[in-house]
Amino acid sequence: MSGQVLVDLGERSYRVEIAAGALRSLGARLACVIGADRRVFAVVDEGAEPHWKSVGMPALKSAGFDPVIQRVSGGETVKTWSSLSSLCEAILAAGMQRRDVVLAFGGGAVGDLTGMAASLVHRGMGFVQCPTTLLSMVDSSVGGKTAINTAHGKNMLGTFYQPHLVIADPDVLSSLPPRERACGWAEIIKIAAISDAALFGRLEEAGTLSQLSGGALEPIIEGAVVAKARIVTEDEHENGRRALLNFGHTFGHALETLARDKGDVLHGEAVAVGMCIAVRYAQMTGTCDATIEPRITRLLKSAGAPVAPLSLTMFSPGAGAMLAHMQRDKKNAGNSVTLILPRAIGTGDVHREAQADRLLSRLETILSSHHWPDP
Ligand SMILES: NC(=O)c1ccc[n+]([C@@H]2O[C@H](COP(=O)([O-])OP(=O)(O)OC[C@H]3O[C@@H](n4cnc5c(N)ncnc54)[C@H](O)[C@@H]3O)[C@@H](O)[C@H]2O)c1
Repeated sequence: MSGQVLVDLGERSYRVEIAAGALRSLGARLACVIGADRRVFAVVDEGAEPHWKSVGMPALKSAGFDPVIQRVSGGETVKTWSSLSSLCEAILAAGMQRRDVVLAFGGGAVGDLTGMAASLVHRGMGFVQCPTTLLSMVDSSVGGKTAINTAHGKNMLGTFYQPHLVIADPDVLSSLPPRERACGWAEIIKIAAISDAALFGRLEEAGTLSQLSGGALEPIIEGAVVAKARIVTEDEHENGRRALLNFGHTFGHALETLARDKGDVLHGEAVAVGMCIAVRYAQMTGTCDATIEPRITRLLKSAGAPVAPLSLTMFSPGAGAMLAHMQRDKKNAGNSVTLILPRAIGTGDVHREAQADRLLSRLETILSSHHWPDP
């Protein structure tokens, strides 16, 4: 196994195993880490089903597991109350016990939903993540946040529940559409930009990011997981430093919600543009200098991610409408809006903006600026 990252959380510690072909040992690893006598309830993302059938399922069977399988549609629309309720009922109907294992085989949406079910049934079952998108390998499968969406917004219901094992096999990314791949890159660039200057430098030297595949991805996925694990280890429940990982998210979530009615916007795309707005905001407040914005933009472009609000939303998002959404963000404290602003590449701060009128006028200036790069 080439890349193994320990997420060191005391009795909740676990390993993230990253290697091309790693899924071929899924059954053996499960038997070793969790126990060969456990039953497995597998939640399979339809988008990743070919990989499940050709690799995941045979690997489990060859190690003696006979998984109960629940297929679910992938993507954001699966993160609902009704999916959560059906999944919990199905796990119980299959007679799964507390010590048995719920396995998520899919993207971040399926992982978030499945993790939440695993945390709730019997007050917490065994939980294993097999992330099948770039984003879920570097971000959502690590750190234990689970969630569904409600009428009040994205990820409004959730739990902290760490998996017992994560197996990330870059081979499954061969079928991932370019837009989904770009979303994963946006999160890697985010983690590097806000917490790991050395990783950011490696990305700058890696060539055209959108063209990297197979073995070339392994060290980058590992680097991003190491950076995320470091932060999660320091602040598991996001009472401090972990909030840095929301860089780009306050602006991004607002754009994502506004644009949802007009067309499809992916989470990672919204985060990419959210970062571009946040770094301009940081420049206006004097938090960072002007050298950071072109470096982040260059990497996002190299990954094929959007870098301007208009290219994302296909309409001019209004500052007032964005602010209204930002004021509902669950990460806010009191009347202030929480923004993550970079200070330099590899470091940043949690900034609480208490004056809505000041935020509004800065946002108006940023959105109306003529300095947005061509999409
Ligand atoms: N828990 C966390 O800490 C955390 C962190 C970041 C993001 N998230 C969440 O993750 C979700 C986004 O995850 P995502 O980017 O993985 O997208 P996704 O889960 O929405 O999946 C995107 C699409 O890719 C398909 N797919 C999955 N694997 C595939 C493969 N190997 N080949 C082809 N298609 C495949 C899916 O069926 C889906 O249609 C959001 O809901 C976001 O809120 C959670």
